[in-house]
Amino acid sequence: MQEILAKLEEKRNQARLGGGDARIEAQHKKGKLTARERIEILVDPNSFEEYDMFMEHRSVDFGMDKQKISGDGVVIGSGTVNGRLVFIFSQDFTVFGGSLSETHAEKICKIMDMAMTVGAPVIGLNDSGGARIQEGVAALAGYAEVFQKNIMASGVVPQISVIMGPCAGGAVYSPAMTDFIFMVKDSSYMFVTGPDVVKTVTNETVTQEELGGAITHTTKSSVADAAFDNDVVTLKQVRRLVDFLPANNREKSPKFTTFDLPNREEKSLDTLIPDNPNKPYDMHELIKKVIDEGDFFEIQPDYAKNIITGFGRIEGQTVGFVANQPMVLAGCLDINASRKAARFVRFCDCFNIPIVTFVDVPGFLPGTQQEFNGIIKQGAKLLFAYGEATVPKITIITRKAYGGAYDVMASKHLRGDLNFTWPTAEIAVMGAKGAVEIIFRADIGDAAKIEARTKEYSDKFANPFVAAGRGYVDDIIMPHASRRRIARGLRMLKNKELSNPWKKHDNIPL
Ligand code: HXC
Repeated sequence: MQEILAKLEEKRNQARLGGGDARIEAQHKKGKLTARERIEILVDPNSFEEYDMFMEHRSVDFGMDKQKISGDGVVIGSGTVNGRLVFIFSQDFTVFGGSLSETHAEKICKIMDMAMTVGAPVIGLNDSGGARIQEGVAALAGYAEVFQKNIMASGVVPQISVIMGPCAGGAVYSPAMTDFIFMVKDSSYMFVTGPDVVKTVTNETVTQEELGGAITHTTKSSVADAAFDNDVVTLKQVRRLVDFLPANNREKSPKFTTFDLPNREEKSLDTLIPDNPNKPYDMHELIKKVIDEGDFFEIQPDYAKNIITGFGRIEGQTVGFVANQPMVLAGCLDINASRKAARFVRFCDCFNIPIVTFVDVPGFLPGTQQEFNGIIKQGAKLLFAYGEATVPKITIITRKAYGGAYDVMASKHLRGDLNFTWPTAEIAVMGAKGAVEIIFRADIGDAAKIEARTKEYSDKFANPFVAAGRGYVDDIIMPHASRRRIARGLRMLKNKELSNPWKKHDNIPL
């Protein structure tokens, strides 16, 4: 008996070694941790349960029958993050470069099936040379099986991808279909075709980092949601994100203890809006002063900075925040901002996370570049996302809400539950000057007349009372009371029930 037990332990130790000491050392030399070391950081101490440690590939071509490594390049299992269950797969680059074989894919699919059965998030730690070249179509089939699982899990359990090494070819499409992608700076990259193919086909010379590094994907392509300095920091941030998310689409987000009182008043918000309507201010300040303990997890902080998206908590429970940022492009909605915010709003709606929207928007960004690239359809994404969302929606207009952007930004007309404004709000088709120059074009030469008309338009619309008079705004609130009003609103809306008409799925303008 003892001998058998010892043999199991020996086999386990062998499996834990993956591709062996030399390859582990090479991994460390690149500043990367191994698959198992990463899991240790991601989950609570001693919470990881590994499955399929002894699975091996079944290929025989190219001498593969003589090269079998227990686990076949991916570690799968379950663990907890702050006591809450998660499922994990972690690719082991020391085993055949973490490449995906038929067996490797079966393991990932197994963990995703388990996650779906019990309703818990899936976290994928990606570090792989792509499809196992020796296996050919069997590996490609494996990828497609994973893709199909990603699609079925979408909107059912949160899926988080962490890119911690290479991720190339069609392999990028599994992370692309998950809810969030985090990348590690300087050691991870994602692209459909690498620099050599790019050079051959388009004659462009580009490095791996430029083509698909963390900076590229968090600032230019928006493929990734955030980038962090190294493996450890990235994994700690994944833990932080998991704390904000519900386990699945039937549950609410976890409730965290907070000592931040819901009726806390923030007097400094009464002076946040500058006297000059064209002067910007930082919308982050409002978000941070309203949420519990200022703890804000921003999604896509480096992309389309004219809109802010991210998670905070009110009374210990997760809220998704969407806010125009007057500091960038005066807070205009453009293609990138609309796409970024639409995806965020849809995530919140999938997972029962109430949405709070702060509005200060002078309109959609004009220009040929925007029109030629389809601002009509792209802007419609955000409009559609807000309009279809059935989670509690609270909106506060702090200053400008002009034109179509007023409608889009979670207005009453898109089933906003509570629509507040600050006394500084201006709700109009456009700014007074622009409006007068159109409707009184004949008077443009007469400065005094134009000034008088501008004042008239401004007096009429540069305030929230017209909208409040029609019930489009439920109340005009003091800025310092924002947290209290949101907290009360969310409490009132806790059991909100609203559903959309039956349909197979909608046809959001893609
Ligand atoms: C089998 C692979 C492999 C792969 C790497 N290895 N990629 N084995 N299939 N796809 C093995 C190497 O042979 C090597 O084995 C070990 O992993 C480490 O690889 P190195 O090249 O030494 O490491 P490094 O210099 O860091 O380069 C990493 C790399 C490079 C950039 C990922 O290995 C590479 O270019 N690999 C091929 C990438 C690729 O073209 N994949 C197919 C993409 S297409 P030893 O024994 O020496 O340690 C694809 C289609 C998916 O994935 C389609 C889905 C629809």
